[in-house]
Amino acid sequence: MLSQLLCAGLLALQASAAVSWTATPFNPPSVPLAVRSPYLNTWLPQGQGQALNDAWPTMWTGSITAWAGLVKVDGKSYSFLGVPAVEGSPYTKATQKSLTFTSTQSIFVLSAGPVDLTVTFLSPVEPTDFVRFSIPLSYMHVSAASTDGASHSVQVYSDISGEWVSGATEWDIQWSTTTSDVVSHQISLVSPAKFEEVNDHSQYGNWYYATLNGKGVTAQIGRDSVVRAQFLNNGVLSTVKDNNFRAISDSWPVFGLAKDLGKVGSSAADVTFAIGHIRDPAIKYVVAGNKKQERSLYFWSKFSTAQQVVSFFLKDYATALKSANALDKKIQTDAAKIHPDYAGIVELSIRQSLAANELTISKNAFGLWDTSDVLYFMKEISSDGNTDTVDVMFPASPIFFYLNPKLGQYLLEPLFRYQATGLYPNKWSVHDVGAHYPKADGHNDGTDEAMPVEESGNMLILSLGYARATNDLSQIKRYKNLLDQWTQFLIEDSLIPANQLSTDDFAGQLVNQTNLAIKGIIGIKCMAEISKLLGDTKKADNYSSIAADYVTKWTALATSKTGPHLTLNYGNDASWGLAYNLYSDLHLDLKLFPQSLYEQQTAWYKSVANEYGVPLDTRHTYTKTDWEVWTAAIMSDVEGRDLFINGLKKYLSDGSNRAPFSDWYDTKTGVTSGFIARPVVGGHLALMIL
Ligand SMILES: *[C@@H]1O[C@H](CO)[C@@H](O)[C@H](O)[C@H]1NC(C)=O
Ligand SMILES: *[C@@H]1O[C@H](CO)[C@@H](O)[C@H](O)[C@H]1NC(C)=O
Repeated sequence: MLSQLLCAGLLALQASAAVSWTATPFNPPSVPLAVRSPYLNTWLPQGQGQALNDAWPTMWTGSITAWAGLVKVDGKSYSFLGVPAVEGSPYTKATQKSLTFTSTQSIFVLSAGPVDLTVTFLSPVEPTDFVRFSIPLSYMHVSAASTDGASHSVQVYSDISGEWVSGATEWDIQWSTTTSDVVSHQISLVSPAKFEEVNDHSQYGNWYYATLNGKGVTAQIGRDSVVRAQFLNNGVLSTVKDNNFRAISDSWPVFGLAKDLGKVGSSAADVTFAIGHIRDPAIKYVVAGNKKQERSLYFWSKFSTAQQVVSFFLKDYATALKSANALDKKIQTDAAKIHPDYAGIVELSIRQSLAANELTISKNAFGLWDTSDVLYFMKEISSDGNTDTVDVMFPASPIFFYLNPKLGQYLLEPLFRYQATGLYPNKWSVHDVGAHYPKADGHNDGTDEAMPVEESGNMLILSLGYARATNDLSQIKRYKNLLDQWTQFLIEDSLIPANQLSTDDFAGQLVNQTNLAIKGIIGIKCMAEISKLLGDTKKADNYSSIAADYVTKWTALATSKTGPHLTLNYGNDASWGLAYNLYSDLHLDLKLFPQSLYEQQTAWYKSVANEYGVPLDTRHTYTKTDWEVWTAAIMSDVEGRDLFINGLKKYLSDGSNRAPFSDWYDTKTGVTSGFIARPVVGGHLALMIL
């Protein structure tokens, strides 16, 4: 036993990236820094490992969002964040000792001479407090403590560049600084464009970089080398104003904040920075009569200016940290109970998944905020930018079931409400409500990316799931006609699915897809359960028996004649794929498929696994991390389940990737195939909601 453990330990060591700091739970492909919205989405790429002061942070797209951090200790200068170039004012790099990530925080400890800096990047997750939940700001908290028993003079500096403001650096920006209870820089485009993006950056709204006002706090805006040299040479910033508004890359204006922490002993002194992007309205949404409604983030129901939000957020740090620590602990405990390595996979998924979404409200006829009209919107980050893609919400759904299933209903609502207007012409469910975020203009011509069985099944499965989990039947009551319409379509097209796309559209169209048929049949069964909840037992019985009949017929069509496994598509005996759609049968306790099927698939996947996991299907060697975890959850034994977790952990921790958690990678090489920072990683919580 002991030698086995030792052996496993050595293997684990080999598989992880060789970094010079302690990484807990492991060194990930990219470390989330400020990850709270589709636009506040900045990371520190890793690959073989990059310390906090080895590289610039980047947006999920990979474009630089320069964020600098410098510290002076007894007059000696160190960098702790980014790679600021400052001619004539030399500094040395503080030494990174550790990196820890939790669900909501990334914590770096760096030593700067006789002082240790603990730099905590906190992106709060408050799934039941919608005001806090919807504030698109993140914290960077820097605390300094002496490590040699003596006290030392410490000044901390940080700035951001205009690169946060637009995806193209030739755009002109303007700025101002507000000083009250907080010192806050506000930066925006000179010529904003409402609801537009450039390279996935929002083209309107304001960026904020702020800290609490108080003794020893100074602020300055100006050319990067000027402002940074001012701090390095003096330990404080200058009141000289640079109001020469110009392009982001024209003498690179930066927005600096500094705090003199005074004499720091072994008990820590600290400073908190807030960074974020606030735009209003946030979303344009199609409503009855093809009119467009402008919607705002939920927090506006409690604040009237952005400055108030920034000030509240900064003063809220202690509360936010306490709440974050409690949530981190709960998630860690729940996940580690399943498998210790599973916890790290889940923790790396939380901020990324939630940051793709924004919670909105509208104003009523009197111009007052209507907090009873809540719609949650999702950006299909990276794969194409659609608004509210059903087959992205579906894989992401476990995170909402786990954190607050009400959020799941708020996500479905824009899709339901749009299709209930009658503006969408197809008999199956729409794929998304807008070709590009943050616009939700609908698809009145019906030419959205067609995934008829996929999306209809997804809507039925999620509607039932959230209705049960919230005990709130109002949504399924309101939209029972649409749900029934989609069920009719599934009865026609799910046992023998026509040539069409499934969610795995990158693999192309295919006729008679085994796994897609499972989705459709489960969808029919879900309508039976929905009918039961709504008191229509006749319909419930009818749909239940249709689903059961389809399972029998499907089993004959979908089982390979040459091997004990399901095929990828009917009649193609050598083919197979991840039958992840079976997950809903277990999750919703539908008991449609026999235990023997789960056992058969468990044995099969064990026999076809590659070094980094099990391929998605026989067409390629790549796989999807979300579908791997869903499949892990349907395995009939622990060994089968752990096969998936081990492969995924190895992919995440071996140092060969540097993008924010990519859900698509090769099972032979462990290298990312594309798709980064997507919300579908919320699906990694699938094991936690069974
Ligand atoms: C789909 O499967 C059905 C049932 O096996 C079969 O009759 C039909 O020919 C298949 N369609 C195609 C295009 O192969
Ligand atoms: C069951 O549902 C199908 C599909 O909607 C319908 O054609 C059939 O008439 C129904 N049967 C009964 C007994 O209601």
